Amino acid sequence: MVTMGQRASTEADHLFEQAQHYLVGGVSAAARLHPSLGRPFLAARGEGGRVWDVDGNEYVDLNTSFGAALLGHGHPAVRRAIEQALDLGLLCAHETVYQVEAARKISQLVPCAELVRFAGSGTETTWHAVRTARAYTGKHRIVKFEGHFHGYSDTLGYSAWPPLDQAGPADAPVPYTESGGIPPELKQFVIVLPWNDAEALERTLRAQGHEIAAVIMEPINYNSGTLLPQPGYLEAVRQLTRDYNVVLIFDEILSGFRTGPSCAQGYLGVTPDLCTLGKALGGGTALSAFAGRREIMDAVAPRGGAVHSGTFNAHLIPILAANAFLDEIVKPEFYPTLLQRSETLHQGLLDAFERAGLPVWVQAKGARFSLLFGLYDEPRSYREAARWDRELARRFFAAAMRHGVYFHFAWHHGLSIQHTDEDVARALEGIEAAAREVAAS
Ligand SMILES: Cc1ncc(COP(=O)(O)O)c(C=O)c1O
Repeated sequence: MVTMGQRASTEADHLFEQAQHYLVGGVSAAARLHPSLGRPFLAARGEGGRVWDVDGNEYVDLNTSFGAALLGHGHPAVRRAIEQALDLGLLCAHETVYQVEAARKISQLVPCAELVRFAGSGTETTWHAVRTARAYTGKHRIVKFEGHFHGYSDTLGYSAWPPLDQAGPADAPVPYTESGGIPPELKQFVIVLPWNDAEALERTLRAQGHEIAAVIMEPINYNSGTLLPQPGYLEAVRQLTRDYNVVLIFDEILSGFRTGPSCAQGYLGVTPDLCTLGKALGGGTALSAFAGRREIMDAVAPRGGAVHSGTFNAHLIPILAANAFLDEIVKPEFYPTLLQRSETLHQGLLDAFERAGLPVWVQAKGARFSLLFGLYDEPRSYREAARWDRELARRFFAAAMRHGVYFHFAWHHGLSIQHTDEDVARALEGIEAAAREVAAS
């Protein structure tokens, strides 16, 4: 009989060994390698709030596909959407009524989204948002913030998680190139600033605003420990970007739909010029979007000169799945259920770690949270958060998997709408057992 969270065994190891013959490093995405396992988590299937590995072990899934599975795995509405796409002949590279429908729904929910364009991945869409801002302003440099992640493009591949010894002074960080293969000449277009520091932005815009096209940020910085904007900070950024004719972009690929249907911008009450959406939007299928003020989006071809096109843009499967997702999230019970259950989980995590005597700071907002191992206070900046104890985390995540709870080795984790009260209770039981084990070792 298969029990939850048995020690991973031969099938996964065998498969990973095979994978390395055909896939670079045995994975399809570098981040899928799991330091606690020494290989990726090799999944067999998912259903609701649970996943099964190839050895038949069952887990409560607290990774939820890095946030893409906000509807959980195999949601019936998404299944129906995919069946509808099949019925329509999987029409590809055509405009249909369904893209208009999805764009209209986004426009009605998300404050800045007067016009919308769809793409496939988050990486693509942040890159297009920056291109759009450059075309609109005629300027080329961009400001991004230390600890904020915007995908893997050459345009934005800087200082997402810089090693602290290579990050430069805290008040004037040095852009850290996150990938090999990015021409060093591109660095001149990027200014990296500390987040939550309105004075640093003011100084930069005063001196270089005439060269800066865009300021891009995660309005809730889930990628560095669910860091929150300090009171007044976003308002100050909004005013400064307006004053200097700089496009303000909120990258809501992760923060979108975590706190409510109007995304972080609606929740926090500050409307950017452009935003990007992704992950949850496609209901577990590959869809992203950039959206924003009509005047700026008009810089996109064919209205303007910033080319954005693609054979697979707004493919019917993700578009119909997004329509289903957008219908689900406006149901009156959706957010109260999701947020209440998330709150129960977050409080339960605090209690479980405290009872087990394992030092973990639980930092949560909406349906996503971070576990900052070895921290005792709320981090206010990337540099504070980046001190978390990775070795403790590695051991905890391994133990949690042995106790039937799946975490990726990630900066953020979270629930889906299909997680039940029982899933939450089961997860907390496994987490406490894992925390006790790690604390005792
Ligand atoms: C805030 C943010 N922006 C961009 C991306 C990149 O998205 P994708 O992995 O779909 O390319 C991510 C992915 O984690 C993200 O969290």
